[in-house]
Order: sequence, then structure tokens, then C-alpha cells
Amino acid sequence: MPSVAAAVPRATNEKAEIAFMSVESEKDLAALRRVGRVTRLTLERMRASVRPGITTAELDDIGRSVMEEHGARSAPRLFYRFPGWTCISINDQVVHGVPGSRVIREGDLVTLDATPELDGYVADAAITVAVPPVSPLARALCECAEAAFYKAAALARPGAPLSLLGGAVEREVKRRGFRVLRELSGHGTGRRIHEPPSVLNYHDARVRTRLTDGLVIALEPLIAATTSRTRALPDGWTVSSEDGSLTAHFEHTLVVRRGEPLLLTAA
Ligand code: CO
Repeated sequence: MPSVAAAVPRATNEKAEIAFMSVESEKDLAALRRVGRVTRLTLERMRASVRPGITTAELDDIGRSVMEEHGARSAPRLFYRFPGWTCISINDQVVHGVPGSRVIREGDLVTLDATPELDGYVADAAITVAVPPVSPLARALCECAEAAFYKAAALARPGAPLSLLGGAVEREVKRRGFRVLRELSGHGTGRRIHEPPSVLNYHDARVRTRLTDGLVIALEPLIAATTSRTRALPDGWTVSSEDGSLTAHFEHTLVVRRGEPLLLTAA
């Protein structure tokens, strides 16, 4: 679940006024791994159920049942009173889609975003699933969001400038001919859905934050075929590309540590 319109990102680790999650103990790490696993299982089960004819409410119900099986709750419901357990956004919709009566059709791009809370810890992940028959554009968009994620994740190290990650996402997305949706960003997470710092998907020289050992962030390229701007739909939740072009989203929650980052929500 991205944060929307993170205006000027000023929060630094040193002077952040709002607490951010840093893994301080084995207990923290174990709890984050548990909620990360529930996130992954939720998305896996939902993904396996994406097919023409199913409604987004039915998909959401599958997500709810996985969370409940593990004693987890929906963090967007908990923190924001979001009217669903997961966010399901279709085609030009990129984030915060409200589950309901909409029926999945052949060729749809279905973005599933799950943010469970378990024992006071939160993890966040998302994936865009293409329903066959998949157009070359839809496939390229999904591949681009995922590739941009891994380009940036590979740079996440203690001491590395946070802006390096956004730069890497932006570069990969441009290289593939698509656009970063600049009003949406990743974020710190771990205790609440959205914590500092904002994790932008573009380079911003004003961001001086450096990554620190143990920092928990949701890194999430959010892209569209032909626009960098979004618009809010009248339901007050759903965000779509401004020009109606197709979108894709790929997100994991990771812990910054020496060596490769730990992807909490990946297998
Ligand atoms: Co997120």
C-alpha cells in the first residue's frame, strides 16, 4: 500500500519526528518474518484465484480468510478504515481499489495489495497479475515494475543514500519506455503501514536520508504506460492513472542489513 502525494520528502533518520521501525532485536525480526510470511501467503492464495468471472469481493474474501487463519488483521482497515481487507485495483487503477462487485475479465491487469498486521507488526506487498490473454503491453508493464524493484533493492545497504533507490527505479522504468507515477511512493513500515521515510520512485536531490542497518521499508515501483500522474476516483479511495493508461505495481517489504536486504514478504 503506497503513500499518496508524499509532498516534499524531508524526514531524515536523524531528525524524524515520527518513529520509524528499526529492527532492534531477534524478537522484532521473528515477528516481522511472521507477518511477512502471512503477507506472502495472502497474495499467493489470491493470485491463484484470479480468473475471469470472479469478483474483487470474492478475491478479497480469500485474502481475509488467509489473514484470519493466521490471526492477522488488515492494516488498512485497522489504520484507515479501508472498506476491504486487501486493495484490488484493475487496469488503469493502480492502488487502493475497493473490493466489490466488479468482475474480473479476460485480459485484465489485477493489482493485489496485502498489508496484514500481526502482533503489532505490519508488512506490505503487492503484485500485478495479468489475466490471459495477456497483451504485449500488459506483460511488459508487469515485467518492468518487477525489474525496477529488483534494481533498486540491490542497492539497499546501510549507509547508502535513499535517493539511490528511487533513481534506480526511475532509470529502469524510463529505459523500458514507461512512466513512474510520481505522486505515489513507498514508505517505511513495520509497526504501522506508513512510517518515514518516503521511498520515492525517482531521484530527488533534496532527499539526504541514508539507509540505516535494521530499517524496514516497503519498496514499490508504481508505473503507468504513458503518464506520470494519477487521479482519485469518486469512491474516495481508488487511484488510477490520469490518462487511463494501464498500470503495474510490484512491492515487497525489506529489512536493510549488511549484504543483501532481507525481503520479508518474498519466498
Ligand atoms: Co506499500
